[in-house]
Amino acid sequence: MEQDIVLTGYDAVYAATPNSPTLRRLWHEHAEGDDYPEQFGHVSFVTLPELRHIAAELHLNPGDTLVDLGCGRGGPALWVARETGARLIGVDFSPVAVEQASARAVELDLAGQARFVVGSFADTGLVTDSADGAMSEDAIQYAPDKRAAMVEAARILRPGGRLVFTAFEVDADRAAELPAFGDDPVGDYRPLLREAGFSVGIYEEVPGWPEPMTTAYAALLDASEALKQEMGEAASQALFLELSMTLQERPYRRRVLVTATRE
Ligand SMILES: C[S@@+](CC[C@H](N)C(=O)[O-])C[C@H]1O[C@@H](n2cnc3c(N)ncnc32)[C@H](O)[C@@H]1O
Repeated sequence: MEQDIVLTGYDAVYAATPNSPTLRRLWHEHAEGDDYPEQFGHVSFVTLPELRHIAAELHLNPGDTLVDLGCGRGGPALWVARETGARLIGVDFSPVAVEQASARAVELDLAGQARFVVGSFADTGLVTDSADGAMSEDAIQYAPDKRAAMVEAARILRPGGRLVFTAFEVDADRAAELPAFGDDPVGDYRPLLREAGFSVGIYEEVPGWPEPMTTAYAALLDASEALKQEMGEAASQALFLELSMTLQERPYRRRVLVTATRE
């Protein structure tokens, strides 16, 4: 049920994104930052320096297989694929995102090395031991069963393969009554990673993480009239619900950057 809300919301927002220059402009200004290449745009909070760090920590060689979990429209992972020469498989449960990511790979001349599939964190549909690296940007906090998500990431990675992600730790008390975040709030991903068969490397709070979130969300809420017109009622309502809920209830404890190696 809760996952239906997340999926319906993301499908609507992704479908409306191409029609909303205001959304793209404000996200670039407040979340991506000036130096982030717009053709690899995202709906997370990954900056260019962070993306470089993620790419380096994945330890990929050209031709290796990289999986992006909760890839959305694919921007950050396509950037990593281009930089490293890895072959990318992006997984997201939103069919609209998967379709847009596939089109974007063609536009960026990366279709030969990237494909996108519909799947969930707990069931990617990918082959066991088939990936050399996996990444995820600000998506895992939505997984309705984080233990299952970590077990699935371990299953698809080969031994020695690396999982590198950013995600929000969720405060169980503040999230208790909220859709999606209250389902399976995880305040520390390390125990789940270890249980799933990872050794944890870096586990650190991203410095200054609340600021881009607060300013981006506030800017979008300020532009609600323009967004409603460009995106339509359903998509803008889904977006505003998440923005105002996050700003008012503050369900996130921290945004963390994590590296883990499959044992
Ligand atoms: C904040 S967005 C980040 C998307 C992308 N990583 C980016 O940087 O633009 C979170 C993504 O997680 C996806 N997602 C949420 N729950 C999911 C689930 N259970 N399984 C797979 N994907 C999911 C959403 O569809 C969305 O694309």
